[in-house]
Amino acid sequence: MCGIIGYAGNKDAPEVVLKGLKKLEYRGYDSWGIITGNFDLVKNIGKIGHIQRHDLNLRVHTLAIGHTRWSTHGGVTLENAHPHLSQDKSIAVVHNGIIENYQQLKAMLQKEGFVFVSETDTEVIPHLLQKYYKETQDFKKAFKKMLNKIDGSYAILAIQKGNRGIYFARNGSPLVLGVGKNEYFVASDVPAFLEYSNQVIFLEDNQYGTIGTEEIGKEIQIFDLKTHKKIISNIQTINWKLEEAEKGNEPHFMIKEIKEQQETIRKSVEQSSETFAKTVSMIKDARGVFLIGCGTSYHACLSASYQFAHLAKMHINVVLASEFRNYTSFLNSKSLIIAVSQSGETADVIDAIKIAKEKMVKVLSIVNVKGSTIERLSDHCINMQAGPEICVVSTKAYTAELAILSLLALTLTEKIEDARKKILENISCLPRLIEENTIKLKKLAEKIKNQKSIFIIGRDIAYPAALEGALKIKEVSYIHAEGFAGGELKHGTIALIEKGTPCIILATPETRNLIISNAMEIKARGGFIIGIDQEENNVYDETIIIPNSGCGNALILTIPLQILAYHLAVARGCDVDKPRNLAKSVTVK
Ligand code: M6R
Repeated sequence: MCGIIGYAGNKDAPEVVLKGLKKLEYRGYDSWGIITGNFDLVKNIGKIGHIQRHDLNLRVHTLAIGHTRWSTHGGVTLENAHPHLSQDKSIAVVHNGIIENYQQLKAMLQKEGFVFVSETDTEVIPHLLQKYYKETQDFKKAFKKMLNKIDGSYAILAIQKGNRGIYFARNGSPLVLGVGKNEYFVASDVPAFLEYSNQVIFLEDNQYGTIGTEEIGKEIQIFDLKTHKKIISNIQTINWKLEEAEKGNEPHFMIKEIKEQQETIRKSVEQSSETFAKTVSMIKDARGVFLIGCGTSYHACLSASYQFAHLAKMHINVVLASEFRNYTSFLNSKSLIIAVSQSGETADVIDAIKIAKEKMVKVLSIVNVKGSTIERLSDHCINMQAGPEICVVSTKAYTAELAILSLLALTLTEKIEDARKKILENISCLPRLIEENTIKLKKLAEKIKNQKSIFIIGRDIAYPAALEGALKIKEVSYIHAEGFAGGELKHGTIALIEKGTPCIILATPETRNLIISNAMEIKARGGFIIGIDQEENNVYDETIIIPNSGCGNALILTIPLQILAYHLAVARGCDVDKPRNLAKSVTVK
């Protein structure tokens, strides 16, 4: 995915767009570009984080659009960086998404003499706009014609020389308008302009329009792409605080977000009882429930399946969203899918929901980003209330997802008020746990930072925690890490244990005896044993003591692993908040 932003107003637009792109960098950071209303253009490879306004060779202007890229079509080159220009250089476009029929369109345009300078799918858009503008002499008509020609997912911004408006369109990729006093924003996500306005309009798919045109009363116009009728949208007030999207006193978003978790878990479970009641009755009425997600969200689903089994005595199918299509024969109008996604934009999850909907399956979702595609596709959506998660690596969204799912599992057999109280009491140890263990985990990170592999084992609810911990270590520190169910390592992977190989043992009171036996097996082969446990044990070479938090153990167990992953990344000099090759949300299949 990529981040896009446009601004039209009285401020210095390049500055507003530069700041916005920095806030959107979690969406992609291969390259970036900004163009102003008088077509001053700057593009660069790499991250925009350190760039200052005075570094930009752009004259002051009141209109600009910008882009920060996570490459899909075409490598990381200056030519492939957005904005892309029409051949006559009168039109500029930034785009997030994929134009699926770009090869046909490119071939058609090339036959007509258009010369392409990039390998991107996006470049067909400005050329199509040039072609249709020549035909219609009306940029709005040209924009509509272009939209009718392209297939795929997109959030697009376009400007034309001498035309005061920013033209936008959304289909399948997020786009939100910000409304200020005589100033207008359009961006992939709210934090991009939250500093200036918390008044927003979440655009729906198949909507297009303009902001910033000088015609009085037409400063914001939104139309339906199918009917071309004007749409009156409600302006919503966003209650996110600016500080939530800032690092504050912390060096990285990752550690800030790790430390926020007691508060975000509280917010996630303290939502109205009605929201949960509807969900619980959907689960009770269903005949066959599927929990689906990707990456970290999948781990939250897997962990929750243990909670449903133990606490509610209920079997729930857990399926990776990208594999869900193999389960279609088991779907009917009585099935329910619970789609879990921080971003609400993950292509594999959207695909699974569409497959389910064809079979009349009910869709419940748990999503963090408001106004997302997954929220809109669902019959009912619970918002995670975790606030903006800026670090590409997910931490607080994982625990918010799991807290909500645990609450649902508990609420199947007890009153929601009791269930909520239980979870909140169980996680009240979190700030102390973080404070007491951070120095130890930092030292541990220093000790093992040069190891080539780290293994993590756990049984029962500690197994998904092991998978999640390994994912955190891999993505942020680039050390190979693998999570296993305690009983599995000896079925093959134990061959990789050498003298000093770090193996983290996640113990719970219910699983301790067996997991300690597994730890012994590893120790006997020379493994360096790190216990994350409620008590000391002779087998451990290092121990991180955590409290026994009952049904909160699934949440608690992951926290030391998140902190360890963070310190491993810092110790190895990695870019903590923007790991290589990753984007916050994977909007391609
Ligand atoms: O936005 P989603 O929760 O749907 O994203 C799913 C995964 O792409 C995401 O959790 C990914 O695994 C992160 N890099 C985890 O830190």
